[in-house]
Amino acid sequence: MTGNGVSGTVGIHDLSFATTRFVLPHTELALHNGADIAKYHIGIGQRAMSVPAVDEDIVTMAAAAAAPVVARHGTDGIRTVVLATESSIDQAKAAGVYVHSLLGMPSAIRVVELKQACYAGTAALQFALGLVHRDPAQRVLVIATDVAKYDPDSPGEATQGAAAVAMLVSADPALVRVEEPSGLFTADVMDFWRPNYREAALVDGQESISAYLQAVEGVWKDYREKGGRALGEFAAFCYHQPFTKMAYKAHRHLLHCCGEDTDDAVVDRVLGRTTAYNTVIGNSCTASVYLALAALLDDADDLSGRPVGFLSYGSGSVAEFFAGTVVPGYREHLRTAAHREAVFRRRPIDYAACRELRAHSLPADGGDHLVPTQTEGPYRLAGISRHKRLYEARCGLSRHP
Ligand code: CAA
Repeated sequence: MTGNGVSGTVGIHDLSFATTRFVLPHTELALHNGADIAKYHIGIGQRAMSVPAVDEDIVTMAAAAAAPVVARHGTDGIRTVVLATESSIDQAKAAGVYVHSLLGMPSAIRVVELKQACYAGTAALQFALGLVHRDPAQRVLVIATDVAKYDPDSPGEATQGAAAVAMLVSADPALVRVEEPSGLFTADVMDFWRPNYREAALVDGQESISAYLQAVEGVWKDYREKGGRALGEFAAFCYHQPFTKMAYKAHRHLLHCCGEDTDDAVVDRVLGRTTAYNTVIGNSCTASVYLALAALLDDADDLSGRPVGFLSYGSGSVAEFFAGTVVPGYREHLRTAAHREAVFRRRPIDYAACRELRAHSLPADGGDHLVPTQTEGPYRLAGISRHKRLYEARCGLSRHP
């Protein structure tokens, strides 16, 4: 442990993300609802949203994100898989068990699913760090995977999206060493929620923004009280980005609370490199803050040895602020080309096609139903039979691409 509370040997060793087959540009949404496109491009900072094919879901995206991690590092020492999601497909069985099976992982592994809106990916990361601290020979596969769905023609519709991030947490990490102090905040608010009987989330948009800002204040106060770094030490901040403008609102709020300069240039310098993926993928909920990290590592100038702040917010609400130091040599371990390819290979669709895909749901009659092949990803939802979801690796593709 260093004087700054850096637990130098534990953190994120590898990071890979996957998204969907289709993409809806916000220009198409604006054509449908008559909104000024500047409201989306400038007002909320979004240009496009990922839309799952009928045979894609949180499991297929999670497996697609995790497969390259398992292919590079193998499964030795992985005794835990934690999958975080707020768009769960089953009330009992953990989605990670399907992922474990698709990836052909050994049976001597515990698999569990975590939920607390968009925050749960960070809970998964923190629990993984704890396990590795306890036994540094172990590695933990953390997966954050979500499909954000709001009612058609609601204000939230512009902030839909979908993606999965897989991270290998280990001792002596190659990418980011996670530091020990965390700032924590919980408040019982109804800003965004999804009752079990609904597919789409309910949200009070303005209340959700206020609740996020209140949480920013709360986590920062606690972080500093726990001995965390000063604001000026950070090279960048990865915020949860339900829409990328939210990161700017949040950081300005933090600067204002700390009595600091809130100039555009100051804010842009520490946020500008964190938005490239979220602005074209949309809200990926639990994955969003780690897509911000992926963008930062893939896009920024060399960050070796520099501290990065992470602010994770999940409606309802729970939030956490923590810091990580970027490990010298990290650039050799990045997956920049694959990440950009995942974004650029999506097929653009118009609003009517998006609405049709969104309306698709699996029959709930207990019969046998096949799902048409649409995805070009490595794994697909093949059908449902007697209420059991059936997943498969796509024909001709190896299980471990
Ligand atoms: N040119 C430029 N800017 C424009 C514009 C134009 N022509 N028209 C509007 N704008 C700006 C507005 O001024 C506004 O910016 P400010 O907030 O900085 O003032 C922005 O565009 C959005 O405009 P509105 O507030 O009028 O938009 P809206 O009523 O349609 O709702 C929203 C926006 C509340 C974010 C809505 O999309 C929503 O409910 N989203 C889901 C909830 C959400 O993402 N909340 C974030 C915090 S909660 C969280 O983080 C957890 C989570 O993942 C859900």
